[in-house]
Amino acid sequence: MTSVLSGKKVLLGVTGGIAAYKTTYIVRLLIKAGAAVKVIMTPAARDFVTPLTLSTLSKHPVLTHFTNEEDENDTWNNHVELGLWADLFIIAPATANTMSKMVNGNIDNLLLATYCSAKCPVYFAPAMDLDMYKHPSTSANFDKLAAYGNLMIPAGEGELASGLSGKGRMAEPEEIIHFIEQDIQSKLVLHGKSCVITAGPTYEAIDPVRFIGNHSSGKMGAALALEMVNHGARVILIMGPSAVKVEHHLIERIDVKSAQQMYDEVHKKITQVDIGIFSAAVADYRPANPVDQKIKKKADTLHIELVKNPDILSSVGALKNKPFLVGFALETENELVHAFAKAEKKNTDLLILNSMRDKGAGFGVDTNKISIIDRDKNVSDYEIKPKSEVAKDIVNEIIQRVL
Ligand code: CTP
Repeated sequence: MTSVLSGKKVLLGVTGGIAAYKTTYIVRLLIKAGAAVKVIMTPAARDFVTPLTLSTLSKHPVLTHFTNEEDENDTWNNHVELGLWADLFIIAPATANTMSKMVNGNIDNLLLATYCSAKCPVYFAPAMDLDMYKHPSTSANFDKLAAYGNLMIPAGEGELASGLSGKGRMAEPEEIIHFIEQDIQSKLVLHGKSCVITAGPTYEAIDPVRFIGNHSSGKMGAALALEMVNHGARVILIMGPSAVKVEHHLIERIDVKSAQQMYDEVHKKITQVDIGIFSAAVADYRPANPVDQKIKKKADTLHIELVKNPDILSSVGALKNKPFLVGFALETENELVHAFAKAEKKNTDLLILNSMRDKGAGFGVDTNKISIIDRDKNVSDYEIKPKSEVAKDIVNEIIQRVL
């Protein structure tokens, strides 16, 4: 399952408390989530966990001092660059001493200098003995650090290294990662929004072994689903037969075969969502009388009567409380004229136009070239791009209009 931490650059600041040994697990979990990790330790932290362990796990040298003394060139560890590199900074464990210095701008080591230079969100996970935790100066520091915009990952209750029991235990590594993931998730622009996406082809049965279908791969719909969840939306992906794999904890995938099944699944869900994106290549017609047994070869010609499938997008466009609606159109001639008519007929808020005349657009290929038409008939033309990039353009246009 993809984590919101995937691809993020994370600085982990380790200070001198016994909970420092747990940072090995934090590094492991961050790497597993797909983050790049650099570790800064205070001099005191090196007594609790070895830099070698953390550098091996993080795959980067661990930094403590402003200069690398062992290096004959004595290179400078630039705290400003480190701060700029990071997408987020986690200080765990955060001792009472380090928090006090963070509050007062007392910069006597590389970790504190980097903290003061960092522009990214800073999370801190306090760890100390229960009486220190309860001390008014500690509470005051918590409040001040929060007022500066830092995010506290509260300590838990339990057995402490001193042998006492109470509040002050650093949150467990899994809790720290979960807290950060939830926090990032809750700040994404589409957090709280939900979406139905149709994708792929439909297969219309002729007999038990044959069908009428098309070459749609489902790649465009899958890319859209991932882009929507990357912005925090919850997605219900209603997918015709497709080999494309899409896995994300915010994506519920419902596999269907025929247009009628897709129609039924869409209408079970559509009233619960804010946005509908209809990227499926739905068969317009289906065999009128599919048979239960395989059709035997007999006459020289065979006629299959076809009947119209329900138009799923139009049926949603006609709903009284329709969601924000995005449709697709594939045209071969008079593209804009046909697209304007389609947008009006199907009542779309955005219509994504693919022209079959454009090389690298359409079915089976990894690229697409689109124009986006809004309700006021404004047309935005985009360059030919990979489908993942096209999905970004479409989702950006949606975001501008639904927020
Ligand atoms: N669509 C749908 N249900 C159908 C047919 C199409 O939901 N039975 C949706 C597609 O997912 C797409 C849009 O309608 O978002 C446009 O489909 P398209 O095939 O281009 O248009 P049609 O209405 O089928 O018109 P035509 O084939 O005549 O151009």
